[in-house]
Amino acid sequence: MKTEIKPITSDSLSEAKTIILNGGVVAMPTETVYGLGGNALDDEAVKRIFEVKGRPSDNPLIAHVHSGYDLTKIIDYDPPYAKALREAFLPGPLTLVYPSTGKVSPRVSCGLQTLAVRIPAHAGAQAFLKEVDLPIVAPSANLSKHVSPTSAMHVFEDFEGKIPLILDGGESIGGIESTVCDVTGDVPVVLRPGLITREQIAAVVGDCKEYTPDFTKKERVKSPGVLYKHYSPRCATVLFATEERDKALSYCIAEQAKGKTVAVLCEDGIADGFADFTVLRLGGTETEMANRLYSLLREAEKICDVLVTVEPRAKEGVMVGVLNRLRKACTSVDIQH
Ligand code: TXA
Ligand code: MG
Repeated sequence: MKTEIKPITSDSLSEAKTIILNGGVVAMPTETVYGLGGNALDDEAVKRIFEVKGRPSDNPLIAHVHSGYDLTKIIDYDPPYAKALREAFLPGPLTLVYPSTGKVSPRVSCGLQTLAVRIPAHAGAQAFLKEVDLPIVAPSANLSKHVSPTSAMHVFEDFEGKIPLILDGGESIGGIESTVCDVTGDVPVVLRPGLITREQIAAVVGDCKEYTPDFTKKERVKSPGVLYKHYSPRCATVLFATEERDKALSYCIAEQAKGKTVAVLCEDGIADGFADFTVLRLGGTETEMANRLYSLLREAEKICDVLVTVEPRAKEGVMVGVLNRLRKACTSVDIQH
């Protein structure tokens, strides 16, 4: 299969629609990362997405809809605070998890009694979702465990020959995936941290909890994605704590002495300390770090044998999401159940 990258025009949108209506897969841009889209109502299309991506069959997908879509077509229980969150943040990088109603393919939620729904802000995503006027499941458009894509070229690198069309909407400005927030209970619960922070959600609705899976219990975790090693570049990775900068430098020197090509991923403030090495600069602000993280991880795998990372100093707000991704990308342990 030939994989084409096309700008978003009325022609490419109608081509995308034809592919979707025939049960195929189309990659689409969003403001967070690119997604691998298929018709959520079509069992075979959903199955194909799991296959193409190599995704574990117990990790559910998010259904994406345009901002004018009638949500009562796919959900019914909708507490007032969920409406308040939609008004405050959507369209945007926030996914809400509602009780499911069985109206999309059962494969979408992988047996969970819930459905995750996202209304992306990206104009290209909105145009595509309006064109098809269907709920579109779209996991991040990377091979399972690989780094999420923030450009059409990243998607091409992972899926050349496997999907027919990538809609090119430029670089994703957000850079890390949406915040996933459960709205099935009395208060919202963040299942995956992201660009909309727990504090921002609490400021709108009064309270917001953060879910931490209890790996010691046998009960099924609320968001299976949190269990998997993710977002990893294909080079060796080593993560040092913020205060271990000197240790990181000694490690770089030792690896280089072994003949390895070393690159360092760190915030701008400490980059000068690694002047003898290739430094991939994350930036100085939390939005810069979110925006650059994945593209730098993809660059790292092309230029080095070992990526040495030092955690940024800031740990709050958007950095909760950035650190969550960084730690998963750079852990050497494959956490699976
Ligand atoms: O920003 C994003 O959310 C991107 C773009 C493409 O929209 N999509 C994305 O999809 O990150 P994916 O499949 O890579 O991650 C979806 C996450 C996983 O951690 C999954 O476990 C969780 O959302 N999830 C999906 N449905 C869920 C549900 N019903 N309950 C709890 N967690 C769910
Ligand atoms: Mg993903």
